[in-house]
Amino acid sequence: MCGIFGYTGGKQAQNLVIQGLKHLEYRGYDSSGVAIQNGAKAIHFEKTQGKIRNLEEILKKHPLQGKTAIGHTRWATHGTPNDLNAHPHLDNHSQIAVVHNGIIENYFDLKQNLKKHGARFRSETDTEVIVHLVAKYYKGNLENAVRRALKDIRGTYAIAVICSKEPGKIVAARLDSPLVVGIGREENFLASDVSALLDHTDRVIYVENGEVITLSDRAVSITDLSGKPVKRVPVKIQWTITQAKKGGYPHFMIKEIFEQPEILTAILRERIQKSKIIFEELKISAAELKSVKRIVIIACGTAYHAGLVGKYILEEFTNIPVWVDTSSEFRYRDPKVGKGDLVIAISQSGETADTLAGIREAKMKKALTLTICNVLGSTMSREAKGVIYTHAGPEIAVASTKAYTAQLATLYLLGLYLGNFLKTLPEKRFHALVKELFRVPSMMQKVLDQYKKEEKDWAAKAHDFNKRYHAQLEKYYKADPEKRKRSPNGFFLYLGRGINYPNALEGALKLKEISYIPAEGYPAGEMKHGPIALIDENPWVICLAPQSKTYEKMISNIQEIKARGGMVIPVVTEGDKEIYKLKPFYTIEIPKVSEILSPLVAVLPLQLIAYCVAKEFGEDIDQPRNLAKSVTVE
Ligand code: G6P
Repeated sequence: MCGIFGYTGGKQAQNLVIQGLKHLEYRGYDSSGVAIQNGAKAIHFEKTQGKIRNLEEILKKHPLQGKTAIGHTRWATHGTPNDLNAHPHLDNHSQIAVVHNGIIENYFDLKQNLKKHGARFRSETDTEVIVHLVAKYYKGNLENAVRRALKDIRGTYAIAVICSKEPGKIVAARLDSPLVVGIGREENFLASDVSALLDHTDRVIYVENGEVITLSDRAVSITDLSGKPVKRVPVKIQWTITQAKKGGYPHFMIKEIFEQPEILTAILRERIQKSKIIFEELKISAAELKSVKRIVIIACGTAYHAGLVGKYILEEFTNIPVWVDTSSEFRYRDPKVGKGDLVIAISQSGETADTLAGIREAKMKKALTLTICNVLGSTMSREAKGVIYTHAGPEIAVASTKAYTAQLATLYLLGLYLGNFLKTLPEKRFHALVKELFRVPSMMQKVLDQYKKEEKDWAAKAHDFNKRYHAQLEKYYKADPEKRKRSPNGFFLYLGRGINYPNALEGALKLKEISYIPAEGYPAGEMKHGPIALIDENPWVICLAPQSKTYEKMISNIQEIKARGGMVIPVVTEGDKEIYKLKPFYTIEIPKVSEILSPLVAVLPLQLIAYCVAKEFGEDIDQPRNLAKSVTVE
């Protein structure tokens, strides 16, 4: 939530900050702003509501000169997303400017107090108290003033502060919101995420909680909150800038969908060596693993759906019972976990506030903790006892695709690793599964190639849906104008069974995230207990029906839908003749794959359906409204 970027060095800073913010726009895009030092008495700044392109337009007309600057892209928490609430925020004399990612919990009391002492507040944000506090404590040394101000603050933050009286300097600090320093040559950078630094450097320092950073063009100094120096060695990041660019695709989402076979191959090659599963970074001993009696998976959003698939995998391969919980439910209900439990937190970003709090809760209760996450050096990777990186590369589109399949791949590997180690998975099955896993990338590629071939057809179907959707709405409203006041029925239903049930949830989530069309994922066996009431000739019903032990049951469900005039789109195994007898609206075939591994392949058509529909509806696919890639607030 919210992205911050800072630059100090020998170049004009404005465009560097804008470019950095664009890489961070996935973190929020309600408003953006930049503050710059240029030797004048006051800091110069521009900020505006909406996406970064709005800010760029303003800056084209009124460019800001200066070589030290901070910028912000916002996902609103306190205060509506308007110009005034946009960051940066400045003190009464516009000599100090601050950008902030996080939430200041005691801002109300601080605000009342600061107002009494003459602070003039211009916004409704919690952030503005920071700048007035820094101004209050400023006695000629910005770093000391920031350190003192932080003592009064309760909450979470990654902040960057500049002061017109201290040219070339940025002071930053972090508590529970991510912050990375990029080390350049005679220039230094700050960002919420490494992807914004890749244009400039591959040497970074991940700022830790409770650290205060002072950047100038030639130096980076790190101290703790008491002012004691902290020694840190920069690390080299492996992600490349090409990975973080669209590379000829119209959207990041479709690029990331198409990257999946390659990513899976890379993961398998790295993790499977001479038929052994290797997790170099795991940091959990064999004795600790042997003591695990129960596994609890916590996660949010798409990662939660990966966790649900993980339950099927881990239970089957290890015989250990697995519970799955959304992190927000887990952390607030005094979860009964402790010794003997392995709590696995799945997260693309490694920063999601609720999942992080879940890890802390589990650690406090003496459970063993492991995170499966994508971002190297993220908070979760440092706080959990063990870590397994998913190595999906930077995921830029807000709607997660490649991170999901990389999470699934990691869960398969973890299941194989544990099953082999605990001897719950027979050797023969282990080897057969490893062999088949290596074939999955080419199965995924086949689905993608087929889509490429039929792209026009998919687009035509999406267009047809669009027409029907609006025609249906009109019919609905005409018949009863009163209904305009109510929202229409759900228009997409996703049904799955067994290990593909979580995929049904994920398919529905993808669609609603980027096209805003109501969609629901359901276990097909539950259809008669509710969703069947929605069926008429109107909704598209996506049925996940690859070959499995419940295939026949799925066919019965499809018949029930057809009998009520429903528009069925089944996802089936290639060569399935039965399905065509039911005359589906459109059939998507996937290669033959064993049931346990099928989610890796079956999810691809669902990602593509969501993409095609959102494209047809002309939505902003990579940056859907109200969402953010990384939810670092509760
Ligand atoms: C947000 C994102 C989702 C993501 C979820 C969990 O809602 O928009 O794509 O699945 O957060 O994020 P995490 O980084 O913990 O996987």
